[in-house]
Amino acid sequence: MAEKHEKVVLVGDGAVGSSYAFAMMQQGIAEEFVVVDIDKNRTEGDALDLEDAQPFTSPKKIYSGDYSDCKDADLVVITAGAPQKPGETRLDLVNKNLKILTTIVKPVVDSGFDGIFLVAANPVDILTYATQKISGFPRNKVFGSGTSLDTSRFQVAVGKKLNVNPQSINAYVMGEHGDSEFADIDEASIGNVPLVEFAKKNGVTKDDLLKMEDETRNKAYEIINKKGATFYGVGTALMRISKAILRDENTVLPIGAPVDGQYGLSDIYIGTPAIVNASGVAKVLEVPLSDDEKDKMSASAKTLKETIDKGMK
Ligand code: LAC
Repeated sequence: MAEKHEKVVLVGDGAVGSSYAFAMMQQGIAEEFVVVDIDKNRTEGDALDLEDAQPFTSPKKIYSGDYSDCKDADLVVITAGAPQKPGETRLDLVNKNLKILTTIVKPVVDSGFDGIFLVAANPVDILTYATQKISGFPRNKVFGSGTSLDTSRFQVAVGKKLNVNPQSINAYVMGEHGDSEFADIDEASIGNVPLVEFAKKNGVTKDDLLKMEDETRNKAYEIINKKGATFYGVGTALMRISKAILRDENTVLPIGAPVDGQYGLSDIYIGTPAIVNASGVAKVLEVPLSDDEKDKMSASAKTLKETIDKGMK
């Protein structure tokens, strides 16, 4: 059987898109990588710049292309859209980025593309929902970066405070990738020791953990106020998700997943752990949330549904 050929098309070559492309090059993921954007000069320049990294990482075909290149792609990653400005929420972007998304999804589908859509443009949970509706693809073949970045931010905050490698903080940020997100502090653990218990033994209270949850919720605003945009964290999160798809890993990752009854929710995409493999979302997991967290999940879902109803109906 022919060796599987990993082909990825990136749509949107802004700060997030090019950071993602750089992360994919660094990790040697995908043998063929196509960069698509309305700014052809930028995509041609980025492709020429990125190809120079090959001798230090791994050979790959990387080039500026267009929607016709999606036909035989395994994965299309959509980062195209206006980024948040200081003081703007992600939900504030919904109207302008829905318009941009509509000009992208249809030509991708018309190319004959039959792979996985991974959406990162904000508000990502709404745009992921819209991508599935516009494309008509099965719900498991369309998903978003969701709360993957937020989860890493919470792991970093807790790891710093407790002097533990962030990769060893078994916790998830869930709900909207946005102001109504929350961390599953009551189920989280470090080395199978409940996080709240581990923290208490190190002089860190539940309130301190909730403060870190709030810092996580607001970290994008802090970064945007200081440097104008965020891109390295989300670019790397997208690389990690792409690797789980292209390598058919069956890895549990916090993504913007299509819930179908989990948490009492349906017909929505929302941040929760899920098993990710070459089929896309293989299984959406339902974390056994505490009552307080169940309320947070319901409130977050309500915010998303209200935005969908306003923006898309
Ligand atoms: C952030 C953007 C990706 O949270 O929404 O940094």
